[in-house]
Amino acid sequence: MRSQFIDPRYLYKTESPLRTKVNAFSRYLIVDEASRSVFNHVSQLLADKSPILDIGCGVGIPLLPVGPTVFDRQDFIAIDLSLRQLRSIRDSAKNPIPKLLQVDAIQMPFPDNSFGAVLARHMLYHVHNPQIAIAEAARVIRDDGIFIATTNSSHSRPELQDAHREAVSELGGRLLERISQVFDAENGEHKLTSLFYRVRTLSWSGILAFPDISEVLEYYRSSAYYKIAFDSEADRIRLLNLMADILIDRFGDGQISLTVGGAVFICDEPVRRD
Ligand SMILES: C[S@@+](CC[C@H](N)C(=O)[O-])C[C@H]1O[C@@H](n2cnc3c(N)ncnc32)[C@H](O)[C@@H]1O
Repeated sequence: MRSQFIDPRYLYKTESPLRTKVNAFSRYLIVDEASRSVFNHVSQLLADKSPILDIGCGVGIPLLPVGPTVFDRQDFIAIDLSLRQLRSIRDSAKNPIPKLLQVDAIQMPFPDNSFGAVLARHMLYHVHNPQIAIAEAARVIRDDGIFIATTNSSHSRPELQDAHREAVSELGGRLLERISQVFDAENGEHKLTSLFYRVRTLSWSGILAFPDISEVLEYYRSSAYYKIAFDSEADRIRLLNLMADILIDRFGDGQISLTVGGAVFICDEPVRRD
């Protein structure tokens, strides 16, 4: 399997793939009690931190209910590389409009020591060298501030991955390593420890309980690995049809559950290098 950096500007050219994912997570994610307490614990930690910077805010609502959304607080600055995601937040916002900026995580226009909390939820795996973005986050966090990063396990959604591998191999498409491997639940802590003195790793797990095959396929179509498997739309449709056959064969066309999981990293005491 080939590994290749995929420019997030290509993946996030429109807002619909991320909206599809956020909708799927908000409607169909069921997590165990331990994961729910992880999410609540982190949200409580953030409650009295101010101001908050959300790096890679996407459409403004995080996939996981970890911390505030861009619509919740006035002391919240949200940044993203994709103007399209920021526009979709602005267009769906009621007054007051959240503070939104088009900024790259690897070079942020904020002074040192400015934020009580910095969030990087499900975005560090899109940065070619995530340690540069983590160093930027550590720089702009106050000494008493906190950095929260969330990500997936690279073993997440094995049901979809297995079917995808089979379908792409049969059709002769492009099979790439999982994007999450750049910064996942398995290697994230290691990438954070040179930039924060204290890193706690909390796991989360659950299922995405889709009511039927069409919802799974809609979710699959929003994935990067579907998008990059073939260059032409006609080939991608062939892939989608074959995926439908494989998934129905394996799981039937009723409810289909995908196993998901990952990590939430809580980091304090940013390392200062003069
Ligand atoms: C999977 S989405 C996550 C969105 C949201 N944080 C969440 O938890 O659902 C990743 C987001 O990170 C943004 N992104 C990727 N690389 C970035 C970078 N270098 N700087 C800022 N944003 C970036 C993408 O445009 C996209 O909106």
